[in-house]
Amino acid sequence: MTQAMPQAIKNKVRHCLTLDHFNSEELLQMVHLALKLKREPDRFSGLMEGRWLLMLFQKTSTRTRLSFEIGMGRLGGRSVMMDWDSSNFSISPIEYEARYASSHTDLIMARLKLHRDMVTLTENSQVPVINGCDDRFHPCQALGDLVTIHEAAGSISGQTLVFVGIHNNVANSLACALPGLGGRLILVTPEVNPAAYDPEMMERMTATGLVERTLNMKEAVKRAQFVYTDTWVDMEFFDDKDYEAEKKRRIQVMLPYQLNAETLKDSDAFILHDMPIHPGYEISEELVYSPRSLIFRQAENRMYAQQALMLFLLGISTP
Ligand code: CP
Repeated sequence: MTQAMPQAIKNKVRHCLTLDHFNSEELLQMVHLALKLKREPDRFSGLMEGRWLLMLFQKTSTRTRLSFEIGMGRLGGRSVMMDWDSSNFSISPIEYEARYASSHTDLIMARLKLHRDMVTLTENSQVPVINGCDDRFHPCQALGDLVTIHEAAGSISGQTLVFVGIHNNVANSLACALPGLGGRLILVTPEVNPAAYDPEMMERMTATGLVERTLNMKEAVKRAQFVYTDTWVDMEFFDDKDYEAEKKRRIQVMLPYQLNAETLKDSDAFILHDMPIHPGYEISEELVYSPRSLIFRQAENRMYAQQALMLFLLGISTP
């Protein structure tokens, strides 16, 4: 048995495990702050001076790594990158390592394989933990997506986003965030990642009247202001030989749902993709660079969204 974190410490700390832990005012506050951070970065430099961020990775990353490290640095803070497999997180209970790691840092951002490990990390950290993606949620991605939607459309309320692909951690995080802000989510997800799909959560989300599921992509995209897709195969399995048969099966099932000129011919929606992109699979290459694609802006907005999130969790007042 490991020693439990005292309740007093747990209660004082606010984490970001999933976006439904924030109310709509808090989410909007972060979206507006992110856009201010993007417009007037000089006003905010120095706000994190003397603060340290630990970035813990059990899986690969480009955007999450870069945007957290640079985002923290631009606010005057510093960060330490730690690879799970070459640290003692891989050989000792998370409880002990989290308790120790949080004694030297002000914030922890972790990308872990399992949500249950993320929960253990938050339960034993003395500082806020940000979920940088696990098998159930990707809240930083969805927060960045809210920023992009607001920036492109002027509001989130009244916007319809169609997510086409495998029901995964990003679909869950969008479902947690959009309805509370008056946005509609239509899921065109013929397949689900079993670890991500939670029927009880989906029932709660569909009960809002703002989350729907359909397999009629043609009709769904006609209603969309934003069409979103994501990889059909999670990053850790993409080149895994043992996953080859399942990858082939998924590609066969999902090819009719590829975003391309033909499947989007009745839609003028903006195109979103959280990256990394697999051109020729979930999206055709021509759409990635098309004038309606917001993909690179969406990736860029991750940094501002996460800067806003870090400032919010630390309770740092902003000008
Ligand atoms: N979208 C996203 O999280 O990108 P990375 O996996 O590169 O961090």
